[in-house]
Amino acid sequence: MFDLVDIHCHALSNVDDGAADEETMKSMLDTAYNDGIRVICFTPHFKIYEFRDSEDIKNYNILINKSYELACSYVNEKYADMTLFLGNEIMYHDEMLDSLKSTACRSLNNGSYILVEFQPTVTSFDIENAVIRILRKGYIPIIAHIERYSALIKKPELVYELRNMGALTQVNATGILKFKFGKIARFLKTVLKKKQVDIVASDAHDNSIFTPKLSKSMLFVAKHYGEKYAEKIFCKVPKAVLNNEKNF
Ligand SMILES: [Fe+2]
Repeated sequence: MFDLVDIHCHALSNVDDGAADEETMKSMLDTAYNDGIRVICFTPHFKIYEFRDSEDIKNYNILINKSYELACSYVNEKYADMTLFLGNEIMYHDEMLDSLKSTACRSLNNGSYILVEFQPTVTSFDIENAVIRILRKGYIPIIAHIERYSALIKKPELVYELRNMGALTQVNATGILKFKFGKIARFLKTVLKKKQVDIVASDAHDNSIFTPKLSKSMLFVAKHYGEKYAEKIFCKVPKAVLNNEKNF
């Protein structure tokens, strides 16, 4: 089995709505390791509207760095073959590119790829515009949990358009197993069948419901959509993204 790579994870403690304390963070890292995950990129939320001023952002980043150091020392001691990286899940906003430039928020492992999310009610026009703006500035957007946006669910062809423009798409591992019937299930089936998903990640927030696990979803994808494709979207592409590679 290939090493699983998780590029969307809220396991850092005391920073966002993810791990509530250090013990939860450690137990989430244990869960991830036991599931076969060997690379994690932590992606604490970055929502510009939640900060009052630049001092707030500075303090948030101090907390992130502190928690990241704790996670690294825990993993270095316990899991020598596990690697950790840092990024953000950035809620799209018009000044997002300025925030990246000023290092208020981060791309994934300081490379060209940024994990970007939208409000669930975002329009297709706004997603396309955001992708164009991000690409023009030399970044590559990875659209987080595409199964959450009604504009895409209603019109899966838009996913193909966004990928043709140069964006990558990410789906949550829990969604693949959870949605069996209904429009989200149909949407996921369509995009997986047509191989329009680039990355599957955990988007883990705790160690009970939204856990850092990928292996079951990978087996499901391998069974229904092919082993090669499963290996690609759970291991190869996320690894390449963290290495800042452009061809995969
Ligand atoms: Fe997330």
